[in-house]
Amino acid sequence: MKVLFVASECVPFIKTGGLADVIGALPGALAALGIEVRVLLPAYPSVNAALPKKAKTVVIGKLPGGRARLRAAKAKGFDLLALDLPQLFDRPGNPYLGPDGKDWPDNHLRFGALCRAAARIATEGVGGWRPDLVHTHDWQGGLVPAYLKLGSAKERAAAPPCVITIHNIAFQGLFPATTRSELGLPDSGFTHSGFEFFGQVGFLKAGLAYAERITTVSPTYARELTTPEFGLGLEGLIAHRRAALTGILNGIDLEVWNPESDPAIAAPYAVNRLAAKLKNRAALAERFRLDGAAPGPLFCVVSRLTRQKGLDLLLEALPRLLDRGARLVVLGSGDADLEKAFATAARENPGRVGVVTGYDEPLSHLMQAGADAILVPSRFEPCGLTQLYGLRYGTLPVVARTGGLADTVIDANEAARLSGVATGFQFSPVTAAALGDAIERTCDAFADRKLWTGMMRRAMKHPVGWQTSAAAYAKIYSAMLKDTALQTATSRTGA
Ligand code: ADP
Ligand code: GLC
Repeated sequence: MKVLFVASECVPFIKTGGLADVIGALPGALAALGIEVRVLLPAYPSVNAALPKKAKTVVIGKLPGGRARLRAAKAKGFDLLALDLPQLFDRPGNPYLGPDGKDWPDNHLRFGALCRAAARIATEGVGGWRPDLVHTHDWQGGLVPAYLKLGSAKERAAAPPCVITIHNIAFQGLFPATTRSELGLPDSGFTHSGFEFFGQVGFLKAGLAYAERITTVSPTYARELTTPEFGLGLEGLIAHRRAALTGILNGIDLEVWNPESDPAIAAPYAVNRLAAKLKNRAALAERFRLDGAAPGPLFCVVSRLTRQKGLDLLLEALPRLLDRGARLVVLGSGDADLEKAFATAARENPGRVGVVTGYDEPLSHLMQAGADAILVPSRFEPCGLTQLYGLRYGTLPVVARTGGLADTVIDANEAARLSGVATGFQFSPVTAAALGDAIERTCDAFADRKLWTGMMRRAMKHPVGWQTSAAAYAKIYSAMLKDTALQTATSRTGA
């Protein structure tokens, strides 16, 4: 089976969050199941730099935003198709924001072009390769099924089925109604049941309206998305399409995130060699200039600093954490007010709170290895990956009971402790008070060495790889191909 992935980020080429981790790992897990994946990415400078000089170039013709070429090559284990349109993508840094920190004003053209290119590859093929289906991701890939469904009769006849994965519904790709002519979208689709969203063009809305299947990144988030609190205006459509929707948990790359061989940490360790984790703890404490003799656990945060992540609640609960003799280290970047508030907390609590503002991949590994617990107090979290890295590194997750956090961490309540299944701590509602309680529960558990070590061991053995989830995607792909074959047969017989 041949699958075209369409995405705006992919580790190790370009990353702003978990989407990149998923696109960087899932194709490999699907390949192990005999599925051939090619990944279509915009040719950002970092993507171009990773392509071999002799990458094959194919002219793909006119797209929204100009004439484009595709550069096709194998790079870093991926079979890449890079959409080369320098006037749109030859911009270094964050893939969505300009130097002023605001969205690029032509983002509709940039990702419209990506989707148009995907639809062309899907219907006409590239260099003799044509996918059996398209798997597109988030709003940046949202227009692919719209182009496939609203094209000419010839294009529609050649169109393979498409599945869209929602990684985060808070980003919907909304643009003024007038952009639809630049995007080459027909007026017939500018309706409630098409790509229109309250008078605007909605990229994600288009994906949800036209894709054969919809997935999201955890079963709980799939349920949450049908409610107004989480669906953000798309809950009606999602509930309507419930039969086409599946929640599949993200996995993690077990090679990149492996405490036994991670080059970014101070000392390798494993479930049967836990003592070496303490060397990482010492290295982390030194890196953040923490004072040595804290009696409580060392908590860490590795996160975008945005309202989604609930880190304002952590600032409120901080006095309770410090009163228990615990320590906190934070690595994050994002909203200026949160960056400032955490920097202030570090200044006011030297030796007890350490903060690095910015993005630092190697440091994020050392934090997972060195901390005792990782805090993820998100208001909503489609899946979340840092709690999965925490499990793998024996760094117990303390998480809000929402989305994928609820699905991946087993709370250390009394029953779970008695039956020996707990891997972390959950709290609900998502308030500073409940977070503070969870932090105190974590401190209590930390003081009970036998309980804590048992939980660490269990966490490290918890399956967090891609195997099960890749098989779940493969099952959906097969069902899609079967549906298409059935439809073709039905239309041939005129039934
Ligand atoms: P989201 O995609 O919503 O940001 P996830 O938990 O799915 O949340 O993924 C976040 C990814 O980004 C993880 O790989 C995490 O380690 C990484 N990350 C977030 N902030 C930073 C940072 N400041 N430095 C390094 N890595 C970070
Ligand atoms: C989004 C979500 C996060 C998820 C990631 C990868 O960025 O916020 O919860 O883990 O996508 O699917």
